Amino acid sequence: MSEVLKIENVRKYFGKFAAVDDISFSLKEGGIYLLVGPNGCGKTTLVNCISGIYNPEEGNVYYRDADITGEAMYKISRRGLVRTFQIASPFLSLTTLENMLVAVPKNAGENIFLSLFKPSWMDSEVSAVKQASELLGVLGLKHVWNMPANTLSGGELKLLEIGRALMCGAETILLDEPVGSIDPKLCHQIFSHVLRLRDELGLTFLVIEHRLEVAAQYADHVFAMDRGKLLTEGTAEEVFEDPRVITSYLGE
Ligand SMILES: Nc1ncnc2c1ncn2[C@@H]1O[C@H](COP(=O)(O)OP(=O)(O)OP(=O)(O)O)[C@@H](O)[C@H]1O
Ligand SMILES: [Mg+2]
Repeated sequence: MSEVLKIENVRKYFGKFAAVDDISFSLKEGGIYLLVGPNGCGKTTLVNCISGIYNPEEGNVYYRDADITGEAMYKISRRGLVRTFQIASPFLSLTTLENMLVAVPKNAGENIFLSLFKPSWMDSEVSAVKQASELLGVLGLKHVWNMPANTLSGGELKLLEIGRALMCGAETILLDEPVGSIDPKLCHQIFSHVLRLRDELGLTFLVIEHRLEVAAQYADHVFAMDRGKLLTEGTAEEVFEDPRVITSYLGE
C-alpha cells in the first residue's frame, strides 16, 4: 500500500506553548488510523495543522508526495484530504439530501440547491443528486434523505458529515470526534460504515476517538499522543498495553 499522508517534525505553538511538539508519522492508503490521547494533548491541533486550518511553525505535511504545508484548506480539500465539520446550525434545517448537495465545492452546490425549485435540472445537477443518493445508500442514510438534519440522531449526523466530505471528493478523511457525545452503540455504527467506505471506496481515515474500547476493534494502527508529543504507535493491543499510555490516561 502506498503512503498517502506524511508529516515530518510538525510543531505548532500557541504563544510559547508547543501544543504539537515535533510530531512525525505517515498513513498508508486504505488504512484506518486512530489518534488517541488525554484531553488537551494536541490531537485537534495536529489535525488542524494537516487540514490547513493552522500553518505549523515548524515541519512539513505531505499529501501524495506534494508538500502542502501552509496551503489553504480549500486547496487541500480539492486534493482529496478533507476534515469533517459539525454541521453549522443554519444547515440543520435543510434535509439530509440538501446538506449533501450544498457540500459540493465551487459553489456548485448552492446552484444545485436553488435548482431544486427550478423545473429542469442540468446534467451536473442530476449527477450530483445521483452521487448523493448513492452515498446516502452506502452510509445507511437513505431512509432519512428527506428529513431535516436537526431530526437526525447524533450518529446519523456524524455519518452525514462524512457524506458531505465525500461529496467534496474526499479520499482521505480526518474525523474529529467530540468528547463523550456519542454512545458506544452509535460509535459501532459509525465505525462499521467507516470500514465499509474503506472496503468499497478505498478511503483512508484518521480518526480522533475517545471510545477506545470500541474504536480499537476497527483500527489498523493507533497513534498515542501526550502533551504535544507522539508517545507511541502500533496495533491497538500494543498501544493500549503500553504502560506509558496507561499512565498518560490515568495519571501518575
Ligand atoms: N486556539 C488556541 N489558542 C491557545 N491555546 C490553544 C488553542 N487551541 C488549543 N489550545 C491549547 O492547546 C492544547 C491542545 O489542544 P487540543 O484542542 O489540540 O487538544 P485535544 O487533544 O484535541 O483535546 P480534546 O481531547 O479535549 O479534544 C490545549 O492545552 C489547549 O488548551
Ligand atoms: Mg480535540
